[in-house]
Amino acid sequence: MRVLLVGSGGREHALAWKLAQSPLLEKLWIAPGNPGTADLGENLEIAVSDLDSLVSFARDHADLVVVGPEAPLVAGLVDRLAEVGVKAFGPRAQAAEIEGSKAFCKELLMRYRVPTAAYRVFSELNPAVSYLEGGARYPLVVKASGLAAGKGVVICKDNQQARQAVKAMIEDGVHGEAGRTVLIEEFLQGPEASAFCLTDGRTFLTMETAQDHKTLYEGHRGPNTGGMGAISPNPLVSQRSLEAIEKQVLLQTVHGLNHEGRRFHGVLYAGLKLTPAGPKVLEYNARFGDPECQALLPRLKSDLLPILMACAEGKLDQMEAPEWDLRPSVCVVLASNGYPGKYETGLAIEGLDEIKTGPDLQVFHAGTAMAGEQLVTWGGRVLAVTALGESLGEARRLAYEAVDQIHFEGKTIRRDIGAAGVEAMEAMR
Ligand code: AMP
Ligand code: GLY
Repeated sequence: MRVLLVGSGGREHALAWKLAQSPLLEKLWIAPGNPGTADLGENLEIAVSDLDSLVSFARDHADLVVVGPEAPLVAGLVDRLAEVGVKAFGPRAQAAEIEGSKAFCKELLMRYRVPTAAYRVFSELNPAVSYLEGGARYPLVVKASGLAAGKGVVICKDNQQARQAVKAMIEDGVHGEAGRTVLIEEFLQGPEASAFCLTDGRTFLTMETAQDHKTLYEGHRGPNTGGMGAISPNPLVSQRSLEAIEKQVLLQTVHGLNHEGRRFHGVLYAGLKLTPAGPKVLEYNARFGDPECQALLPRLKSDLLPILMACAEGKLDQMEAPEWDLRPSVCVVLASNGYPGKYETGLAIEGLDEIKTGPDLQVFHAGTAMAGEQLVTWGGRVLAVTALGESLGEARRLAYEAVDQIHFEGKTIRRDIGAAGVEAMEAMR
């Protein structure tokens, strides 16, 4: 099979790494890819936003297109590919709206009784402010409805903060059009979990769970990022919560999308809070999580390619449930100093060659580039190191051992990826 993979982050390097192991793969292109994916296939100089070039390349060369990031999905890449008869792993624009519009997502969840936080939607400042002043309960959450690269969420502890957040989004347009419509949401208590299911809109296969570490600093402090690390499985998801996630959340959502004529092909990623009243949806994404994907895929024993193809072709019912390595994984992100704000790029990265990678230890590239022969930093999240271990503690030790061998100026990491997971497992014993 000839595959075009779209994207250039750590998630796409992990996808490329897994796809490259498939005996069914004849050729892999990555558009635009990164220096990590260049070792696994052929990088193409096509930006993820250049839908015309992606479509025409795929029409001439590819049997399957695998779409990593959300923006091309929301922009209708998969619809365009369907028009020229190319199969794709990833939802059409109408189904991707579950991520592209938080307002649509919430309405869908309400219609199909999927547990989620209570909320209101506002597109004008005055009604929003009256609502905030008239009996809203704090803390509460103010969110940009559209895509804001994970940065459109403000947790507000009082009225003043909430007013500021709403004004910044609706009136000052800090997130552009994405923030002109805002959601004001009930604050949900409890730890977070990420759940993933592969689906062709009729059948779904639940993947293993993960836990993201969103804040920049250790212990839930600092600004939210795209994710500074992840572990899989999420030790806080009990068998009982997993059943609830499957039946009340994923199944209902796949059914709901289908019922509304927005059949979803691809991976549905539910961001959840494990509240005392059971799992509730924080948000949906229409793609793999980054860095959750880098923590998940090294645990997947089955061949990924036929599963992705089955999703694209609507034949997932013919696939067996994927097999997983039972050992836990830990993925640690190495970021640039300043991320998620402004940061410098072009800084030399050293130490990668000395790391012995293998099935249990991988270094995934995200924001890297080649400057001549030298690997340099090129983005906010630079690399992600994933290790598998007999225990979560062991996986942590192995991951950090490799992380400590990598050097670049301003290297920013969290030391506590998986630490809360280890504590939780000890408490459960
Ligand atoms: P989102 O982009 O909607 O996943 O939100 C980003 C982060 O904000 C989540 O991972 C949570 O940590 C936090 N968050 C969002 N919505 C809520 C909520 N209703 N209650 C508590 N925390 C939330
Ligand atoms: N790690 C969070 C995300 O991919 O949205």
